[in-house]
Amino acid sequence: MTTSPFPDGFLWGAATAAHQVEGNNVASDLWALENVEGSPMAERSGDACDSYHRWPEDLDIVRDLGLNSYRFSIEWSRIEPVHGHISRAALAHYRRMIEGCLARGLTPVVTLHHFTSPLWFQRAGGWTAPGSTELFRAYVRAVLPILDGVDWVCTINEPNMVAMVSAARDTGGTETVAGALPAPEQPLVDALVAAHRAAREELSAVPGLRSGWTVANQNFQALPGEEAAARAWAALREDQFIDAAKGDDFIGVQAYTRLMIGRTGPVEAPEGTRRTQMGWELYPDAIEGAIRYTAGRIDTPIVVTENGIATGDDDERAEYLAGALAGLERALADGIDVRGYVHWSLLDNYEWGSWAPTFGLVSVDRETFARTVKPSAHWYAEAVRRRSQR
Ligand code: NOJ
Repeated sequence: MTTSPFPDGFLWGAATAAHQVEGNNVASDLWALENVEGSPMAERSGDACDSYHRWPEDLDIVRDLGLNSYRFSIEWSRIEPVHGHISRAALAHYRRMIEGCLARGLTPVVTLHHFTSPLWFQRAGGWTAPGSTELFRAYVRAVLPILDGVDWVCTINEPNMVAMVSAARDTGGTETVAGALPAPEQPLVDALVAAHRAAREELSAVPGLRSGWTVANQNFQALPGEEAAARAWAALREDQFIDAAKGDDFIGVQAYTRLMIGRTGPVEAPEGTRRTQMGWELYPDAIEGAIRYTAGRIDTPIVVTENGIATGDDDERAEYLAGALAGLERALADGIDVRGYVHWSLLDNYEWGSWAPTFGLVSVDRETFARTVKPSAHWYAEAVRRRSQR
């Protein structure tokens, strides 16, 4: 009998985010961007997966697969659609979701900010406007009463992506290598860190609640002899965000692929490299690399809050998952403190401008919203069952 490196209570889950699955997130900045004339977004989120209404069905699927955790986000623009007006109905909605998880034996992992902000917040200047920290703090304070019984809260999702995408927008830059983004601007980084800290301060009022933020890890890997270039590339884009989580209750690690770094930055993967629907290299070892990298920088418990693959070939998803879980297991066997693995995503959902990439363990009919569990979900369920038994 082999002993399992997976500790008791290890979270095995699947994730979504509000804007990508709920539908009709009309008071948010992204909704405005998607629907403005001449929008840069190829497609709009629209009804999305209608999870705002169908969440019980989504939770049933997670439970029936034998997973024990569900990550989802609370939408600030629903809680506070207008500055200073807190919607009791929206609070009650998310409370029902939390209770829905608990009633099914699922540990909720709740994200407070997953890329979207209320339109009023963005119009007032967003994160870098004076007072943004206090605006975010007020929102967090408003949701505190519904977080009873929630053990894991992610404050801000992928702050480094938020900051890099903003820098790309400011410079009008387009990606030459898939996933290569400019370094973030410091005022935005500072604002995000301040908002995160303020949120953690507020959250400390909830007994038993652990909070942290989730960092996108791109597995920057140096071409031969280019270690210094890779270190410099990572410093502003990842390291400062990982380091800011020092002292947090946990850090969320999110990884999908790697990026090779040469003297002047990322280089295209060689011809013939297998790629996902995102154009990213198909690289299942990404999550192991991200875990080891993070653990090498800070001594903070890790939760894998996202990892997955956009593919139309469901066998490929199972293959990717097998590789990713093997890497996770190696990291745990080496004594790295990982507390959970939450797969992105439960559902095929709205990938920020496009419906083409399919990350889901479950497909969703775009007309009827009918859910169909894919074979890879059953593969995952079985892999979890095996690992939980040993
Ligand atoms: C990270 C983001 O948090 C999530 O919203 C997105 O869909 C996935 N990566 C895939 O790109």
